[in-house]
Amino acid sequence: MTREEALDSVKANVENKNLVKHMLATEAIMHALAKRLGEDEEEWGLTGLLHDIDVELTEGDMNTHSRLGADLARELGASEAMAHAILCHNEAHGVPLEAKLDKALFCADPLTGLIIAAALVRPDKKLANLGANSVKKKFKEKSFAAGADRGQIARCSEIELELDEFIELGLKAMKEIAADLGL
Ligand SMILES: [Fe+2]
Repeated sequence: MTREEALDSVKANVENKNLVKHMLATEAIMHALAKRLGEDEEEWGLTGLLHDIDVELTEGDMNTHSRLGADLARELGASEAMAHAILCHNEAHGVPLEAKLDKALFCADPLTGLIIAAALVRPDKKLANLGANSVKKKFKEKSFAAGADRGQIARCSEIELELDEFIELGLKAMKEIAADLGL
């Protein structure tokens, strides 16, 4: 599967532009994580890009979300490792995170939401001048963007990354695609 095929499939299955942006942001962070950890950048990036492909098809049903996503990813030619990471990023299935790829996707997913929310409360609503320290401060404000699960983000420790470095890496990765994110 090429990146273009993956993105086309995401766009064919997801109408909500913000959800597509969420997947692009997750792709960017996963790509940067793979680079940092010496893993397969293409595989990790595509896993991030595809991880919520079924979100509209499953209509918020957490019992089918990510199970269908894993199947769709396999049909597109994703590896078993990618499909497994997609499957277990939804904790409702009770499938434990095993590989580094599983753990990376699990903690990268909510970090995108925290960073987007931190950009949107700025006067310019842009990522360019958002500092990592602001995001770190917002991380500690539990009521801010409460949907971005702090405990889940903090599990970056399971891929041997300090929280500060994880936030810095995620922010930098998202800044690089700011135009695609409209931020
Ligand atoms: Fe997600």
